[in-house]
Amino acid sequence: MSFSRVETFAPATVANLGVGFDILGLALEGMGDRAIVEFQDDPHIVITDIEGDGGQLPREPQRNVASVSARAFLDCIGEQRGLRIKLIKGLPLSSGLGSSAASAVVTVTALNQLVGAPFSREELLPFCLEGEALVSGYHADNVAPCILGGIVLVAGITVDAIRPLPVPDNMHLALVTPDFPVPTSDARAILPADVSLKSLIHQTGKVAQLIDALHRRDLQALGDAMEGDEVIEPARACLLPLLHEARLTAKRAGAIAVFVGGAGPTLCALCDSATIAEQVASEMKSLYVEAQMGCIAQFTQVDRGGASVLSAD
Ligand code: HSE
Repeated sequence: MSFSRVETFAPATVANLGVGFDILGLALEGMGDRAIVEFQDDPHIVITDIEGDGGQLPREPQRNVASVSARAFLDCIGEQRGLRIKLIKGLPLSSGLGSSAASAVVTVTALNQLVGAPFSREELLPFCLEGEALVSGYHADNVAPCILGGIVLVAGITVDAIRPLPVPDNMHLALVTPDFPVPTSDARAILPADVSLKSLIHQTGKVAQLIDALHRRDLQALGDAMEGDEVIEPARACLLPLLHEARLTAKRAGAIAVFVGGAGPTLCALCDSATIAEQVASEMKSLYVEAQMGCIAQFTQVDRGGASVLSAD
């Protein structure tokens, strides 16, 4: 069954779980983006409105992640009609919370529903990646958990590389997002082009430990693995205000580990209860406020549902 107007939601995501650069990500309960997508007879794609971006996102269809993803979808199915897309951004831009992935996923999810859902959720990945690639190249560690929810291993950028991982029930997260945008492209440009064999062995071991810890629901081992990143975080530390202080603050308040959300500057603290996560979020917020830096703080859990259709007429 096809529809003429569909409204969708896509959650925030955190990619890289400390280690696992470009191959591990998770979806967060709570924050996210919405889209309203409709067909039009005119063959063009029009971004009719974007709310919540402070006017920062491009409205030109060839430069906007949502419309580039939608174009890939329309071309694939040979659809001649164009689209009207309204985006409601709930996610701050360049914050490490997967804003560009959410723009792509929320639009493509709506479009799939508009035409009667010919694709499974996993099969939406390639279309969303075309949009994500516009801002930061082909990496699926935000897009895949945004579509599916949960914690996801993406051992490549193709549909068959998506592997959902177990989510421990007592896994809670406290997040702080300083008002200090870090464009993902800048945070990728700063990374080393090569790593030593010693680093490779260390980093690979920590990824393996992380996946094993999830299967055993062992949050201490999980936290140890998350903080084992010796390649990406050190290179990006100069872009992450108060990283060291926030880690100390979070741990004093009971967090098990602190890792960088995506390309930053969001910091994520792993906690084993909602009460501790609430306290950690509050104390990390105070740290930034005392340093006269604006921030958003939240405590949440892993979202297990992924992108969803809110209404279809
Ligand atoms: N894996 C990506 C990076 C995620 O760290 O550059 C960006 O959100």
